[in-house]
Amino acid sequence: MYYPEELIEEIRLRNDIVNIISEYIQLNKKGSSHFGLCPFHNEKTPSFSVSADKQIYHCFGCGAGGNVYTFIMEMENYAFLEAVKHLADKANITLPTPELSEEAKKKLQHRQQLLEINRETAKYFYHQLYSNRGSAVLQYLFNRKIEKDIYKRFGLGYSNITRHDLFQYLRSKKFDLEAISELGLIIPEKSGNGYFDRFWNRLMFPILDVHNKVIGFGGRVLGDAEPKYLNSPESNIYNKRKHLYGLNIARTSKKPYALVVEGYMDVIALHQAGFDNAIAPLGTAFTPEQAMLLRRYFTDVVLAFDSDQAGVKATLRTIPILERNGLNVKVLTVVDYKDPDEFIKNKGSAAFEELVNEAVQGVLYDITVLRNQHDINQPDEKIKFIEAVTRRLLEIEDNVARDVYTEDIAKRFGISLNILKEQMKKVIQNTGIVNHSNKAKKEVKAKKEDQEDSTDKIQSNILSLIIQYPSFFNAIKEHVVVDEFISPFYRKAAEYVYKQHEKGNNIQLASIIALYDEVGEQNRITNVLNPTIKFESQLLEEKAINELVKALKQANIDYYSRTTTDINQLNKLIQMKRQLQSINISLNSKED
Ligand code: GTP
Ligand code: MN
Repeated sequence: MYYPEELIEEIRLRNDIVNIISEYIQLNKKGSSHFGLCPFHNEKTPSFSVSADKQIYHCFGCGAGGNVYTFIMEMENYAFLEAVKHLADKANITLPTPELSEEAKKKLQHRQQLLEINRETAKYFYHQLYSNRGSAVLQYLFNRKIEKDIYKRFGLGYSNITRHDLFQYLRSKKFDLEAISELGLIIPEKSGNGYFDRFWNRLMFPILDVHNKVIGFGGRVLGDAEPKYLNSPESNIYNKRKHLYGLNIARTSKKPYALVVEGYMDVIALHQAGFDNAIAPLGTAFTPEQAMLLRRYFTDVVLAFDSDQAGVKATLRTIPILERNGLNVKVLTVVDYKDPDEFIKNKGSAAFEELVNEAVQGVLYDITVLRNQHDINQPDEKIKFIEAVTRRLLEIEDNVARDVYTEDIAKRFGISLNILKEQMKKVIQNTGIVNHSNKAKKEVKAKKEDQEDSTDKIQSNILSLIIQYPSFFNAIKEHVVVDEFISPFYRKAAEYVYKQHEKGNNIQLASIIALYDEVGEQNRITNVLNPTIKFESQLLEEKAINELVKALKQANIDYYSRTTTDINQLNKLIQMKRQLQSINISLNSKED
């Protein structure tokens, strides 16, 4: 643990989970819980519950869950320590210097060092703009009609024409060679002697995350050379699938929609023209992770990709990714120019605003593209078209919206509404398509369960029972010691539970979660804390307990007989195996 356990607890207790979560989503009280739409997956009916008593949340749809720390880590993309800091600040608690384990200290320092190097590099590039060597790039920016205040807002810079300057500069600042290399700022010389800078003679775009940390760079050549754009490789702090260029600014835009474009230059040109809601993926196709990130700040998206064939393709691919993640998508068509950057520089912002107003709903865009692919004067082509339209309409999850669009599309494209409806019925019957969101949920669940093997299941069930019912704990502690929880993951929680019982303390569910640093682990342990096991009689309870304990012991025997070479221990295992049959746990002492 980085800070004393009591402090972590204090911070947690001073941040009521209902208040914190209410800052992000709307919650409604129902009985002892609060319900709302899950911020971690797309849903139309609330399956996300927050318990004020237990100070935990759980989504019955996607399985996300945890305490107030987990929530902040997931929402803000924070590491555990960053979440602690965030919540401490909220509660006006000043944090002492953390007590870090050696390993944790290293990990944290490493991450901080990477960010520090990138920040220093961005500053360096920025200063190069105004150095003697910077005139070429200033001319380039001038030619592209980028104004000075934008250099600052986006931290634009220049990686100059020499090939060792950045490297020498960073070394003079005593930054670690390996860290600089991990960030991809330098590349080893082929000769094996020394390094050269990855970026040289390029216009530089620092890539910032939503907390304004420099996580990577993109660099554009000043002329026509290849590659046109060079980007930082992925690193400990940079995953191009998880961030969006410009979102650090766009997240505070007053516009009610996000404007998604293809490239750095489009983002910048739009911001300059007053569209401070423009963002772009980072040189990859738009990802589901980016859609989820975007949904934290916007519910509506206007896609404004390039007007070429590639742009149309990218649009078709991006619409379903955004829609599946709960975003309402419209598509803007850039006319006469190749991309938003060129359009706005030639026609101005008012003309672009008009394009925004004319943007069409995603489904309509898709079907218009389909229409252009079929010559519907030919009967067989018309049939194919209707089939394709049917499939597209069936992708709309909401029944009302689907009906409305079906009618609209029938009218617009001259298809008989009856034929369209008949065709949809047929497809539903033949393929069993019912509800996409249910399917998605099942996939999420199946994946989670796959990760748990049967030994995990046993441990998690036992834990779940002893946490829920103190009387079970009393019965089980006679038979199971902490070390019999084989997986370190479950042993950690078991240790806590046993210790609290010994001290006669209550078990705080949210404290158990705070034992874990990673969001994934916190989600996983929360599932244990939200048991679904219900027994109809004490007889069944006893039976279940006995079976679970026997199964756990059997798992221990299997595990150690595979791993031990010690004859004494083997003998013990044989004994254990014999005793297994005679285990008989009784719950008679159970108080109600
Ligand atoms: P300009 O020509 O400067 O206006 O570029 P653009 O912003 O119009 O970019 P373009 O439409 O050519 O490409 C869109 C995005 O794809 C860019 O912003 C880059 O992120 C990425 N990209 C383009 N070319 C390359 C390349 O050669 N290599 C890599 N890795 N990414 C590229
Ligand atoms: Mn362009």
